Amino acid sequence: MPEENPPEPPAAPHRRRKRYAGKNPRRFEEKYKERDPEKFAETVAKVLASGKTPAGTHRPIMVAEILAALAPKPGDIAIDCTLGHGGHAKEILARIQPGGVLLGLDADPIELPKTETRLRTLGFGPESFITRRSNFAGIAQALASHGFAGADIVLADLGVSSMQLDDPSRGFSVKLDGPLDMRMNPHRGQPASALLEKIRPDALAALLDENADEPHAASLAAALAGKKFARTTELANAIRIALPGIKTDDAALSIRRVFQALRIAVNDEFSALDTLLRNLPACLKPGGRAAILTFHSGEDRRVKKSLDAGLHAGIYSAVSAGVIRPTPAEQHSNPRSVPAKLRWAIRAEG
Ligand SMILES: C[S@@+](CC[C@H](N)C(=O)[O-])C[C@H]1O[C@@H](n2cnc3c(N)ncnc32)[C@H](O)[C@@H]1O
Repeated sequence: MPEENPPEPPAAPHRRRKRYAGKNPRRFEEKYKERDPEKFAETVAKVLASGKTPAGTHRPIMVAEILAALAPKPGDIAIDCTLGHGGHAKEILARIQPGGVLLGLDADPIELPKTETRLRTLGFGPESFITRRSNFAGIAQALASHGFAGADIVLADLGVSSMQLDDPSRGFSVKLDGPLDMRMNPHRGQPASALLEKIRPDALAALLDENADEPHAASLAAALAGKKFARTTELANAIRIALPGIKTDDAALSIRRVFQALRIAVNDEFSALDTLLRNLPACLKPGGRAAILTFHSGEDRRVKKSLDAGLHAGIYSAVSAGVIRPTPAEQHSNPRSVPAKLRWAIRAEG
């Protein structure tokens, strides 16, 4: 039945002018298309020329220096403890053929299959390239379970990859809004939000000091411990508020340090590194070479102490005299390389 007095048709909704989207994609998923080097070679070249890392990729750091330290040769057994985007692995793989095998470990179940596919596409089949989702603390079990008595080459490039950092859904970024997670393996352990909600101020202060040398550890711990922060930006804002009267640039450094400290705690990074360093001599064949790339003092202190102790004990025949740093050109072209420090060791014969 028709209505006697049909209502007036609703007024046309007010439409906001469509905002100019800008020439650069905002969403990570859109940026991710830069990872297809053939289709988007031009975009990738432009991003690289601007000193940035194309989204969804990772630029391997100090490749020449690492290859010089590891001296890969045909037939070598190599283990890349931190496969990431596979940038270092690709170079090592090319040099250990014919006959060599690279076992690539990574804790990250999201990025690992993508890297495996990428390297398979480059022609590295299962006879030369094996991947394993594993924490590198399990390096000895990983080698044994694939039937290797030891490795000629061990590489560890510590920390997180650009793919992890740039993906807001992983919660590592201080700039992008996302869930406050920070787990390299999101199926294991607790996210950073849960850690902060449960931790007591004194324990948080110790963690900020130990993991990131944070100068405002006590006041930040008082403001943040036991609080619920679901999002990365909520935590970043709370840090700013907790540091009144501090210059914007200094507050930004504190935000970075708090994120770093939480990431290290969430992923138990120091204990994994300590276990790797303890197991390293037994995993290297006599004459085998190891290279470790670190990104902050807490990591480098551990590596230096362990390698120096191994040299004095005669376990290593040689270790790097000091740290090797990226060249000024690399630091300029890839700002993420700036804090990198490389150390190497050679397992003594016999
Ligand atoms: C800096 S990236 C490595 C980049 C790689 N060298 C490349 O060229 O693409 C570090 C990688 O190590 C992984 N990782 C960090 N700590 C780990 C651990 N304890 N065990 C296994 N993988 C780890 C991260 O998930 C990340 O993918």
